[in-house]
Amino acid sequence: MAAEIFAKVEQIITDIQAANPQTAEDIEQFRIKYLGSKNTLKPLMGEMRNIPNEQKRDFGQLVNRAKQVAESKFQELKNAADAAADDQAAASIDLTVPGEPMNLGARHPLAVMMNKIISIFEKIGFEIAEEREIEDDWHNFTAMNTPEDHPARDMQDTYYLQNSTEMLLRTHTSSVQARTMTTQKPPIRILAPGRVYRNETISARSHCQFHQVEGLYIDEGVSFADLKQTLLYFSQEMFGEKTQIRLRPSYFPFTEPSAEMDVSCFICDAKGCNICKYTGWVEILGCGMVDPQVLENCGIDSKKYTGFAFGMGIERQAMMLYDINDIRLLFENDVRFLQQFQSAL
Ligand code: DAH
Repeated sequence: MAAEIFAKVEQIITDIQAANPQTAEDIEQFRIKYLGSKNTLKPLMGEMRNIPNEQKRDFGQLVNRAKQVAESKFQELKNAADAAADDQAAASIDLTVPGEPMNLGARHPLAVMMNKIISIFEKIGFEIAEEREIEDDWHNFTAMNTPEDHPARDMQDTYYLQNSTEMLLRTHTSSVQARTMTTQKPPIRILAPGRVYRNETISARSHCQFHQVEGLYIDEGVSFADLKQTLLYFSQEMFGEKTQIRLRPSYFPFTEPSAEMDVSCFICDAKGCNICKYTGWVEILGCGMVDPQVLENCGIDSKKYTGFAFGMGIERQAMMLYDINDIRLLFENDVRFLQQFQSAL
């Protein structure tokens, strides 16, 4: 009697090992038969009472083995079925279908201009100085020798922070000159690119935000000749080696003497076009020798040190170079506009 029941379980184990269901449906039947809630092994436990006591333990172990064999067989079948399904999916991929085109981004034309200017000045040892856009009145105006009654200080030109006569959005990158001179000792050779703000009516020609690049060089014996040579080098790197420059006397509170610099028109090779208004020259920047009063304001001995400075706007140069007729396009982030600069590095 007991031997018969033992044999029955052995037979089930043999059946499980021999089973070879192929389809998902057959595998499921296998699972139900051996591992489901009404599986074939369950009633066998009921046979326990017919097993002599001394064999009960062996019998329990045999039934457990049958369960384990069923479980591992099921896992094996399932893994094989999953792998086959993966193979089938892979086989159905058409490797000859062309890939999805990648939408490459491009640098903004202003970033292209700025990066070019930065790399030109880095080659001759200028260090990049980036500073805050929210400035105080002293660094933006007072230190830069801009008198109290100067029109630039007017609320109409300058954005002051709410309820403040002290804090403002910097109106020029010249504030970085004051920041640098008060924290570093000469020799100082910095280039300060950044955004500036002025309370201007927005139109095709002007905007309330724009970008400038400021340069400052202070050391013993820096002369106007150094300024000229530096600017000539820059202009030829930027606009081509045949470029010429001319300096016209001008006025800025923070430089003495001051000048405005024109370059020979890079659009028409100085032959005359509507960009240079048929003069052959386009104005690029303001510059001059740092006013000794500015050096003193910032704690630098003006008897020992001299320096030059310059500042240029970026938008107008970009507009000329890329033939952009409305400054607002540079700030709207319209992809139809930006996509046109895909090739600009
Ligand atoms: N800060 C001047 C402006 O915004 C530009 C400028 C002129 C900067 C002469 C300079 C300079 O450093 O020397 O119009």
